Parts: sequence; C-alpha cells; structure tokens
Amino acid sequence: MQLALDLKAEIMELKGARNAVILAHNYQTGDIQDVADYVGDSLGLAYHAKMTDADVIVFCGVHFMAETAKIVNPAKIVVLPDKDAGCSLEQSCPADKLAAFLETNRQKNYYVIAYINCSGGVKALCDVICTSGNAVKIVNQAPADRPILFVPDANLGAWVMEQTGRKMDLWQGSCYVHVEFTRDSINRIKAEYPDALVVAHPECTQAVRLLADEVCSTEKMVSFCRNAPVKDIIVVTESGMLHRLKRECPDKNLIPGPTDRCACADCRYMKMNTMEKLRNCLRDLAPRVEMNEDIRKRAELPLLRMLEQSK
Ligand code: 13P
Ligand code: SF4
Repeated sequence: MQLALDLKAEIMELKGARNAVILAHNYQTGDIQDVADYVGDSLGLAYHAKMTDADVIVFCGVHFMAETAKIVNPAKIVVLPDKDAGCSLEQSCPADKLAAFLETNRQKNYYVIAYINCSGGVKALCDVICTSGNAVKIVNQAPADRPILFVPDANLGAWVMEQTGRKMDLWQGSCYVHVEFTRDSINRIKAEYPDALVVAHPECTQAVRLLADEVCSTEKMVSFCRNAPVKDIIVVTESGMLHRLKRECPDKNLIPGPTDRCACADCRYMKMNTMEKLRNCLRDLAPRVEMNEDIRKRAELPLLRMLEQSK
C-alpha cells in the first residue's frame, strides 16, 4: 500500500518537473487511469494529443496510439511505458502488404479509409483515418464515385457498412480480444441477468453485435451506461473499461462480458503498461516514439482530415 502511494507521488512529482501530460486509454489498469490527466477512447485521445501544450506526452495505451500523438506533435517528446505494447489489428496489416495490394489494384482507384489501429506506415498510405467513435461519420463523407477499401478491421468495417449502407472492400484483420466473445458466451451471461442491457464494441463479430442493445466506441459506452434506464449492464469489451465505467456510473451494476474461456477479456498489450514502467518512462524520458519524417508528414494529412471531418 505504502509502495503504491510512493509510486503515485513519484509519478506526480516527475509529471510536474517534466511539464508532462499523461493520456490513458480506457483499457489501462485502474491505477494508471487514476493518475492520468485524461482517460478516453482513441478519438478523444487524438484530440487531446493535438491540443496539449505540455512539453512531454506520456501515452498510456498501445504503440499505435502513442505514434498518433507523435504524428500530430513532431516537436514534442512522446514516451510510452512499454514500447512493445502492440495491437493485433496493427499487425494484421503491414504497410508493405497494403502498398502491394494498392499497386495490384491501382485501376480501382480506391479511397482508403484506415481505422486508427494501424501503423504510421499504413496511415501514410490512406486518404482518411477513422476511429470506432467516428467511423460512420467518416464513411458517410467519402466520395460517392470511388470504391472504398477499409483497413484493417473487417468486423468494424462490416458494422459500418450496416450503419451507412455503403459497400466497402474489407481488409481481413481482427482484434484478437474482441473476437473471443461468442454468441454462446454472451447468451449465457444474458440468461444470468435477464433484465440487463448489453453494450458491445464494434470490433466484436456480427453474431455478438446482434445480441447488443448498443454498439459503440468505449467513450460512448460511458454515456450509454449513465443514461440506461436499468441497473444491470453487460459490457462486451476489454476489462479495463469496467474501471472507467464504475467511476463514472457508480449506481449501475456493470457486468464484464465473458468469453468461452474467461469471465472477462484482457488485452495483453494494453496490460503491458504498469505504474513502475510509467514512473520509469517519466524519469528516463524513454522509450520514445521516433518516426521517419517523410512517413510522419504523409500520415499527418489523413489524421488531420479525420479531426476536421469528425467535428
Ligand atoms: P476505442 O477507440 O473505442 O476506445 O477502441 C480502441 C481499441 O483499441 C478497441 O480495441
Ligand atoms: Fe488492439 Fe484489440 Fe488490444 Fe484494442 S483490444 S489494442 S484492438 S489488440
């Protein structure tokens, strides 16, 4: 207990000394969320990264999120607690494979929409970025006379097609955490809580999305739970979300969506960050996100377009 308090005090002191801002994703552990200046989804984090006047951005999330902060803040130091915190969606779409696909299909003149869960190299190849929070809005603004290629999440892409009626070609990537929820695992927990509402992330499969009362980004889950007319809510996403929701909606009974193997689902990448590593990265200003300037510049355009189009 004393050790945890000391660590927290050390982080706060270093944060002040470095003029740093701590941004944390909703899937971070509770102790990290509690020391962050801002906790949110990918969209909110991208806005905060763009607006901050801090000298150092400490990004508690996964690598592509920290890289996004660097893309819009080339002059700032961006650090993350664990540089190996990756993402299965990012891994499913390497930039060289996407470049080769676009070259082979050059005659199609694709308008490429990339979900933010991808590398800077992939962002540099696309026309616009989207997050789960603004994907419908972004797809609705795509040029009507060009075919859309949506990368890398096929489940999110399929959900956006259902919402917009716009046909898209989908890269076949997926989030290894969200595809673990199944129709059976969600039906079982629904049977236990027959009055509960279900909120699910759009990275889930269609079989799971069909069982949900609401499908939305992690940030929108907060307002959904707050305004829900019932007490019991089954939350079908990564387990860190429960900490944020319990803080924001203390009067609700928030039930983690189970998988066939576990009572809840953890993202092993998000959970690589710890309070010790957070202290260390503030103290050492490392590991830092560094980017090739040509790729950064090319990746910045579709990101700024996203921020503009999602206003
Ligand atoms: P959100 O932008 O909805 O927080 O999603 C990010 C993510 O990585 C989901 O797995
Ligand atoms: Fe990537 Fe899935 Fe982890 Fe989100 S939960 S960071 S999409 S692996």
